[in-house]
Amino acid sequence: MTDFASLLVADRGQKARTIHLVDKGSFDAWLKGRPAEDRALIEAHRFDGKKGFTFVILPRGKEFEVVSAVKNATELSPWCLAKLAESLPEGAYKLASGDVGQSGLGWLLAQHHFNDYRSSADVEPGARVLVTSELARVDEIVRLAEATALVRDLVNTPAADLGPQQIENAVKGEANRSGAKVRVISGAELSEGYPLIAAVGAAATPERAPRLIELEWGDARHPRIAIVGKGVCFDSGGLDLKSASGMRIMKKDMGGSAHALALARLITMERLPVRLHLLIPAVENAVSGAAYRPGDIVKSRKGLTVEIDNTDAEGRLILADALTKAVESEPELIIDFATLTGAARVALGPDLPATFSNHDDLASELELAAREVDDPLWRMPLWDAYEDLLKSDIADFANASSSPMAGCITAAIFLKKFVPDEIAWAHLDTWAWKDPARPGRPKGGEALGLRAVFEVLKRRYLQR
Ligand code: BES
Ligand code: ZN
Ligand code: ZN
Repeated sequence: MTDFASLLVADRGQKARTIHLVDKGSFDAWLKGRPAEDRALIEAHRFDGKKGFTFVILPRGKEFEVVSAVKNATELSPWCLAKLAESLPEGAYKLASGDVGQSGLGWLLAQHHFNDYRSSADVEPGARVLVTSELARVDEIVRLAEATALVRDLVNTPAADLGPQQIENAVKGEANRSGAKVRVISGAELSEGYPLIAAVGAAATPERAPRLIELEWGDARHPRIAIVGKGVCFDSGGLDLKSASGMRIMKKDMGGSAHALALARLITMERLPVRLHLLIPAVENAVSGAAYRPGDIVKSRKGLTVEIDNTDAEGRLILADALTKAVESEPELIIDFATLTGAARVALGPDLPATFSNHDDLASELELAAREVDDPLWRMPLWDAYEDLLKSDIADFANASSSPMAGCITAAIFLKKFVPDEIAWAHLDTWAWKDPARPGRPKGGEALGLRAVFEVLKRRYLQR
């Protein structure tokens, strides 16, 4: 993992090249105060301070300074320095304003690359260190970068090398670091206690057997919260096999579990005063003679019977049993992350996790925090009338609708059947993927919604 802590450091008067950030409003006044040679250079580059991500190098003898345009120079976005961090030569830099704000995140993540599978990694340019006057924020920004990089790396790892066992290993690694306890349920115990997880994972080879991975951390006197993440290490669709293009990036179908694990890491590192219960149902949705079938009926852990309409709607099945287990410990809050539906992407595109909640307060807190930390998400309705779309002729309900309409809503309504109204619950149907690439955000695995949820948890629990 990239050593982020060495790339963002507190200001102790180190020598560093200055980065001037300007925006539409501040550019003219800033330019007036510059020496004539700067002004000539800036003019020659036709730099007008308006186009984000452009910059000009201003020579200072053997050294140099930099001026870069950002959208808002007084409220820095997480990604406004990412292009600079990707482009500038090795060395230490500091902002003329001193304070890095959220922009430290993009500075760090722009220097993180997933090179595990390259036989010769592109020559890494030297570290670019950013010096900031905001002492208190350095640790937090570094932790957010580490959590984001964890999601990216887990999602980017090919399914052949990241099965349920490796997800379990990743959870155990986190538990060792934080002193948490881990329990893994598999085999007969899984078939008896978690029939939906067992059904979805039935076709996988024995080394990739399905399991429920649970982590418990914190003081029993603190309020209990549960974080749940969809851990489908590869989604072929099962017997309702996906098309080649539909399957191409389905290694990312464990993205929800990667978000959940990264959030657990943030919670434990921040030592939030909560009793954390992390639940990750980890399976491979494979094809074999042992595969579960369309038309099968499975009795869930909760006792409700589910007719399998479509084996490709597997995420909601494994989440249903995991949510049931979470509910049994009576948490005051449940958050789940899942790459649950293509329909959420059709509705909101790649950037916005479709966010559902049974509690308006929680939904508002998420929307506000998402805006403030620049980790956008969008609320969607748990529209009860669409429950009819999940009707089954012979079971309590089906796992999918025969109509393609409102696919992410019917998926969320399915999950809602397993969470009682009195528990505040939010479900993030996220993409866990970036395409196309943006500065600091290469094409591939991505954390979407993670920082927004963490911000809500901090606001809820740090101020008690
Ligand atoms: N993992 C997919 C959802 C998905 C697909 C997320 C593409 C992101 C991009 C999920 O398990 C799935 O296949 N859902 C089906 C549900 C349908 C069969 C009711 C879908 O969305 O098509
Ligand atoms: Zn699927
Ligand atoms: Zn899936």
